Amino acid sequence: MNILIVGTGYVGTTTGLIFCEMGHQVTGLDLDNRKIQALQAGSLHFYEPGLEELLTKHVQSSQITFTKNTESAVKENDVIFICVGTPMGEDGSADLTYVKNVAEAIGRYMNQYKVIVTKSTVPVGTAELVAEWIEANQTNPIPFDVVSNPEFLREGSAVRDALHPDRIIIGTTSAKAGTIMKELYQNFSCPIIETHPKASEMIKYAANSFLAMKISFINEIARLCDVLGINVMDISKGIGLDHRIGTQFLHAGLGYGGSCFPKDVNALLKTALDNHRPLSVLEKVVEVNNEQPLYFIEKMKQTMGEPLVNKTIAVLGLAFKANTDDTRESPSLVLIEHLASEQVEVKAHDPVVHFKSGGTMKFQQCETVEETVKGADAVVIATNWPEYLRLDWAVLKSFMKRPIIFDGRNMLDKAELESLGFQCFGVASF
Ligand code: UGA
Repeated sequence: MNILIVGTGYVGTTTGLIFCEMGHQVTGLDLDNRKIQALQAGSLHFYEPGLEELLTKHVQSSQITFTKNTESAVKENDVIFICVGTPMGEDGSADLTYVKNVAEAIGRYMNQYKVIVTKSTVPVGTAELVAEWIEANQTNPIPFDVVSNPEFLREGSAVRDALHPDRIIIGTTSAKAGTIMKELYQNFSCPIIETHPKASEMIKYAANSFLAMKISFINEIARLCDVLGINVMDISKGIGLDHRIGTQFLHAGLGYGGSCFPKDVNALLKTALDNHRPLSVLEKVVEVNNEQPLYFIEKMKQTMGEPLVNKTIAVLGLAFKANTDDTRESPSLVLIEHLASEQVEVKAHDPVVHFKSGGTMKFQQCETVEETVKGADAVVIATNWPEYLRLDWAVLKSFMKRPIIFDGRNMLDKAELESLGFQCFGVASF
């Protein structure tokens, strides 16, 4: 099948390449010329393990091509996936400007029946809006169907997640479009759920919100465990092994970040308010998440027994989680912002994120971990990069002013660090 993917971010690029793996012919469309040129040359414009290999393979075999010519891309493809961004608007709702632009262009250039698929996370009712935007821009009434087919892949494990999804959701009221979609996904072995587009859109928001809720739940339990002297990781394991709860997304830390959970939880809250059905549990989820970096800083102050002003703190990790160069809503940056506002001198490191120095940057970015910890009063582990598990702490200790580690990801071996003479504090990890 000939598939057009509109938007070459991590969702669009991964989706397109996974369809190549499934034997389909794919065109990637983006208005950003630099992205198109890089992708056509086999080079990814973001960091995602394993994706560049797939890109090189399918560019070389011409199974995927990239273009910025919207008219020919729309005319030559019969299934069009909308994978553009839906950033958070000022009132918390999802901004559909890019989706609308794409829908209008599809309407303008449509030459025969097409299935238009919303892959981006879009509010309930967007499939209907997309249909209206397309129709309003058609010069001749050409039939089409709009399908909601949300994506559940995670940054950092996008290829694996997209190749082995737990489920595929197809939201459509059209039998014809449903058949085409099932044909597209015929090589996947997971369950396929066919439902109404509105239900499909809601499934995506409810899934992300539920996972965010698990994280805020365990972070709040961790705060209580801190007082009671209980290791929260034992709690996560003890409750997670109950299959009704599940072990994933119960890792206590600095709170959730990234381009999805904060944005999607807020968008669902906005939908709930607009419909006069506030989601009080979810409101609390956001509140707990916003408090978590502050809670951690409070803990740092208490354990150091003094204010942090004029201290030097080394922050390891800037990305919102491991295996990505994405820093959107990163708990690490939130933490740095708070530390800097308390006149703390922050030095930071990340294996893949490299900010340009100067401007309003609130910290000094160092190239190596050694340089980062040099002269530090304490080290904070802010991102769960596997690299940080392999550090030689005996050597690093000799660079530090004081041997104190605050493990915001509960990932280091505390006993081992203590045997090296460190004081090590996690999030309710004893
Ligand atoms: C999330 C969802 O997991 C995907 O299913 C979804 O497709 C995606 O959003 C999206 O809507 O596009 P992602 O934001 O890439 O994926 O990252 P996650 O792995 O879910 O992590 C989100 C945040 O939660 C990170 O800051 C992570 O460190 C944090 N987290 C995760 C925890 O603090 N504890 C955990 O136990 C798990």
